[in-house]
Amino acid sequence: MTPNQRLILLLLLGLTVTSGTGTSLCTHEVMTRCVCNGMDIFNLENMLSLRFSELELRDSKLDGFELPIDLEMFSYLIQINKLTFTNVTMSFSFIGAVFHFLPSILNEINIISSTLKDVKPLQYPESLDASKIKALLLENTTVDPSLLQPSFEAFHRWLFGSLKSLGLVHSGLVEIDCNWAQRVQNLSHLDLSDNPISYTSLQNISQCSSLSFKSLKSLHLRNSSLTSLQSLCTPLSLTPALTQLDVSRNNFTVLNYPHCLHMKPLRMLNLSHSEITEVNSLFSESLEELDLSYNSLEVFNNQLQTLKRLDLSHNHLIRLPSLDSLSHLQDLKVDSNQLTILIQETTNLSTLEQLDSLYAGRNPYQCDCALKETIIFLNSTDSVSVEDYPEDFLCATPVAQQGTQIMNLSFEACMNSTNDAQQHSSPLCLTLFVVPLTCMIYSC
Ligand SMILES: *[C@@H]1O[C@H](CO)[C@@H](O)[C@H](O)[C@H]1NC(C)=O
Ligand SMILES: *[C@@H]1O[C@H](CO)[C@@H](O)[C@H](O)[C@H]1NC(C)=O
Ligand SMILES: *[C@@H]1O[C@H](CO)[C@@H](O)[C@H](O)[C@H]1NC(C)=O
Ligand SMILES: *[C@@H]1O[C@H](CO)[C@@H](O)[C@H](O)[C@H]1NC(C)=O
Ligand SMILES: *[C@@H]1O[C@H](CO)[C@@H](O)[C@H](O)[C@H]1NC(C)=O
Ligand SMILES: *[C@@H]1O[C@H](CO)[C@@H](O)[C@H](O)[C@H]1NC(C)=O
Ligand SMILES: *[C@@H]1O[C@H](CO)[C@@H](O)[C@H](O)[C@H]1NC(C)=O
Ligand SMILES: *[C@@H]1O[C@H](CO)[C@@H](O)[C@H](O)[C@H]1NC(C)=O
Ligand SMILES: *[C@@H]1O[C@H](CO)[C@@H](O)[C@H](O)[C@H]1NC(C)=O
Repeated sequence: MTPNQRLILLLLLGLTVTSGTGTSLCTHEVMTRCVCNGMDIFNLENMLSLRFSELELRDSKLDGFELPIDLEMFSYLIQINKLTFTNVTMSFSFIGAVFHFLPSILNEINIISSTLKDVKPLQYPESLDASKIKALLLENTTVDPSLLQPSFEAFHRWLFGSLKSLGLVHSGLVEIDCNWAQRVQNLSHLDLSDNPISYTSLQNISQCSSLSFKSLKSLHLRNSSLTSLQSLCTPLSLTPALTQLDVSRNNFTVLNYPHCLHMKPLRMLNLSHSEITEVNSLFSESLEELDLSYNSLEVFNNQLQTLKRLDLSHNHLIRLPSLDSLSHLQDLKVDSNQLTILIQETTNLSTLEQLDSLYAGRNPYQCDCALKETIIFLNSTDSVSVEDYPEDFLCATPVAQQGTQIMNLSFEACMNSTNDAQQHSSPLCLTLFVVPLTCMIYSC
């Protein structure tokens, strides 16, 4: 009996099937993945024919269990490297027992919308090797704060031995103390989103002795009631290698980019959904991706030479930001803003031609002669892939043209010369739609 098989048996015997129907449905969405509910896992004839490396157990109770008898029949589960529990109630002693039987190739565990009952320190053999688990995610699974206490030291030692990625998302986490911070200091990815996390406790960890998150590359603090980035300077002083910072879904209003972040090798910054009306002193020599979508920006004119991807969709931009200083920009999203025109006299077309992809649909385009260059550009650009053109590029004004695709506009009546300043001030579509009519009447 290999440990792998024993684990599975524990899982199986622990299942209290709550659905009365007992219909079997192990859906392998992709070849490698199997999603089962409690009853399905007993359908061995089906399971044996499947080859999968990911198993998701759903909608069951894993409370009590007894030791197994016949194990060979579960050999099909040996190849699992990712185990997910969704909407499962587990006792902590169940998890404790599982320690001893985890398949050695299991490297990822997700516990989602589940309940961990009866959290109490268990007896572990002193010699227990560290697990091989690389990634652990607890999401919408309330973590009993006592789990973070020193009495769980043996558990922590086992769990964090090889762990590189930890997510405690929507788990009611409020405080982080030195003990806990020390356990997670070798991680490269940490997601503490959707928690009512206390700022003082985040600040305080900088006072823990010899603490450094020197491998931490990616940190997620989505929806964490942040109101300024300055408040992150102290904890972030412990993360010299941080390259990805996700602080989306907070509330910054006026975003002042703090000096402490100028020094970081940050490559990705996510500030989406954060009520931002203004961005000040955003400066970086490393930032490649900036997500400012779903804010209330009317202008954006920060100089970020290294930027490759910029998302300004779902803001209130009135004109296209100047791309002159964004010479490495590949992807630009300015869809769902207040742009009435894309390309103006002042637009440097050669900066646009450097783009690979452009999202600019769902803006209230003003369909007069001034839009001609925009359409010529959109119609003819080969180097830039314009997403959702023509279907999402519609006229908002004048009223008569509302909802018309801008691509279908006729510019015959507009002055041909692109240098003619007059065409940019043509009142709405007067020239465009009235003149041809007059021409017809007077046969000009
Ligand atoms: C969660 O599982 C229980 C059975 O344990 C089931 O009755 C319930 O419908 C499931 N909830 C969801 C959201 O799937
Ligand atoms: C969180 O989990 C509970 C079950 O534990 C479920 O009823 C609820 O819908 C989940 N909420 C979210 C946001 O997923
Ligand atoms: C972190 O890694 C160092 C070696 O780089 C090791 O000595 C230390 O025990 C690890 N800490 C934890 C909590 O795993
Ligand atoms: C945001 O975080 C709070 C806890 O701080 C949580 O209750 C809420 O559900 C989260 N919102 C979303 C959309 O996840
Ligand atoms: C932060 O540290 C101070 C002392 O340095 C202490 O009084 C306070 O309780 C700590 N707060 C938290 C939330 O850890
Ligand atoms: C930024 O965060 C939002 C919401 O939290 C998410 O939908 C989006 O995909 C993230 N952007 C990037 C570039 O990861
Ligand atoms: C964000 O903060 C501002 C002022 O600090 C406040 O007026 C606003 O209601 C907050 N928005 C949200 C969604 O919490
Ligand atoms: C337009 O952009 C190109 C490439 O970025 C640059 O070389 C050129 O100087 C710009 N022209 C003007 C008039 O700014
Ligand atoms: C843009 O392309 C459409 C369809 O090919 C064409 O009908 C229209 O006249 C073009 N507009 C301009 C300004 O080139």
